[in-house]
Amino acid sequence: MLQIGDQFDHFQIRQHIAQGGMSDIYRAYDLLSGKEIVLKVPDKMTIGDPAQYERFQRELEVMHTLSHPAIQRGLGSGRFNNTPYLVTELIDGESMRDYMRRAAPVSPETAAALIRKIAEGLAHCHDHGIVHRDLKPENILITSDGQPVILDFGLALTKHAHRVTYANLSGAAGTPDYMAPEQIEGQRGDKRTDLYALGTMFYELLTGRTPFSGDNTLAIMAQHLKGLVPRLDREQPGISSKLAAVVARSLQRDPDDRYPDMQTLVHDLDHLDEVDESILEHATGPASAAPFWRRFPFVLPIGFAVLLLLAMILLAFGLQTLHK
Ligand SMILES: Nc1ncnc2c1ncn2[C@@H]1O[C@H](COP(=O)(O)OP(=O)(O)O)[C@@H](O)[C@H]1O
Ligand SMILES: [Mg+2]
Repeated sequence: MLQIGDQFDHFQIRQHIAQGGMSDIYRAYDLLSGKEIVLKVPDKMTIGDPAQYERFQRELEVMHTLSHPAIQRGLGSGRFNNTPYLVTELIDGESMRDYMRRAAPVSPETAAALIRKIAEGLAHCHDHGIVHRDLKPENILITSDGQPVILDFGLALTKHAHRVTYANLSGAAGTPDYMAPEQIEGQRGDKRTDLYALGTMFYELLTGRTPFSGDNTLAIMAQHLKGLVPRLDREQPGISSKLAAVVARSLQRDPDDRYPDMQTLVHDLDHLDEVDESILEHATGPASAAPFWRRFPFVLPIGFAVLLLLAMILLAFGLQTLHK
């Protein structure tokens, strides 16, 4: 790890900002440009991983393709003492994770306004053939004037680039909280995969918790694949069925049942009164509104056990009468 005051290539380290999924993030002074920037270097777990250099190259390439207030700007990349690094603009903001911890649940208006701005940034990505695929509150910063900025294009899928999966990146097994079902099943995903992750964050802004939870990674993944699609108007006071329908449509398990793109989602947010609520008939409410065998999962196995026992008793009884 670099220390404050260290010089790394033509950068002077000023502050350790964060430890990301696979990297250490520093605020540093660029001796060439005379500006403060953000320097991303592999953390000690991934420092020898050849995929890291490729990841930073790709990240820079993606950022260079894009230009939008909701997308972080890339400045450069390189290698120093065999350590690859990435340089990005410094964003003065709070991570969406910290914001949620501090403020969620937020009002429907606040949540919708923030989600809308993120959706616009993602629409810009998708229009350029880029799918982010790792959207989560840790990868979004919110500036003091309320502008969200999407970071971390390290797992992004581009039209041309070959496939990078979690398996290529040793340290990358992050939280499954925002992973779409098709991603959990190992598919590469498309813009609707980002839409699902955005829907998850929408839900979390409105309630303070993620829609699919569990005690461990596998349990959470199973919930994404098989859990009930939540119905927010029954779960959280003050949420209209129109808004609940928007969130439910973003969180549909089958990508074909979600909004086809960010623009359609934004359109619904702008015209909430026109939203089709029929999707809520398929969406289920909180767990308590689930059919009884889901609420009491032990009923089925116990029922089977009792039936089996009965069958065995009857069989024994039948055999006995046969012998006589
Ligand atoms: N340009 C930036 N300005 C300010 N903070 C940043 C910037 N880039 C990253 N960070 C902080 O560093 C953390 C990790 O950055 P990220 O790019 O997501 O790295 P990783 O790929 O290792 O997850 C972010 O959650 C954020 O808090
Ligand atoms: Mg990250």
